[in-house]
Amino acid sequence: MSFHFLIKAYYNVGVLMKMTSLRSFSVALVLAALVLTYCPEAVTVAAADDVILPPPVTEGGLGLFSALKKRSSAAGGDFSIAEVTLEELSTVLWAASGLNRSQTGWTVPMAEGLEPYVRIYVAGPDGVFRYHWADHRLEQISEVNIKADIADQAFVRKAYYCLIFTSDKEVTAKLKLGQKWDDDFIQVLTGAMTQDIYLAAAALNLGTRYIHSLKTEAIKQALKLGPDDYPVALMMLGK
Ligand SMILES: Cc1cc2nc3c(=O)[nH]c(=O)nc-3n(C[C@H](O)[C@H](O)[C@H](O)COP(=O)(O)O)c2cc1C
Repeated sequence: MSFHFLIKAYYNVGVLMKMTSLRSFSVALVLAALVLTYCPEAVTVAAADDVILPPPVTEGGLGLFSALKKRSSAAGGDFSIAEVTLEELSTVLWAASGLNRSQTGWTVPMAEGLEPYVRIYVAGPDGVFRYHWADHRLEQISEVNIKADIADQAFVRKAYYCLIFTSDKEVTAKLKLGQKWDDDFIQVLTGAMTQDIYLAAAALNLGTRYIHSLKTEAIKQALKLGPDDYPVALMMLGK
């Protein structure tokens, strides 16, 4: 067992490590081994240039039915260009595919209860980041502002952030059903994630808009996607 492995285990059972007795410590180690075995995606260590997101807002706010009444797409033409805070971004990302119960419970439903097989990338003024739901972290992919090059409509660049949704075929490869419906499942999940973003944006007074007319090849290159993966949609996010 490598030192790196041990560090990862420690990272993921940080809360459990607060237990003080030897017996509790052993339980924590067993749980860490289970997490490592059955949910390896949940096991990650932040790199120095990663952005550890502040905790999302998960209580209070607008009631669900008020958010449903308020949900709408902000007009692209006069989309607000104001800065979205890191806490607001954190809450929106959590709403889209964050953990809401355990290490295997998310805000959106997934086929066979698999971990999210749609990734979210955040394109902002300071570059591109990949969202890691397991430790609610942004991994920097590049320092380039790509917002002007990823969609057909020029107004997309105005958004402070563009959230880009892509397939994750490494995850759908785990489907017991095989690959028969994996592209359908990816579309369905993108729909669930983006609707959660519409509702979270309504609650946070942010503007958002679903965009399907993407520059697919440009996005694939900018995000360094694997040959089997592709962008599905993006959502503009502004204030
Ligand atoms: C599947 C889908 C694709 C869309 N593609 C685009 C798009 O490429 N560009 C755009 O400006 N809006 C796009 N939209 C946003 C719709 O135009 C918008 O939801 C619609 O006008 C209804 O407005 P509302 O969301 O305020 O109810 C898309 C919405 C959906 C659901």
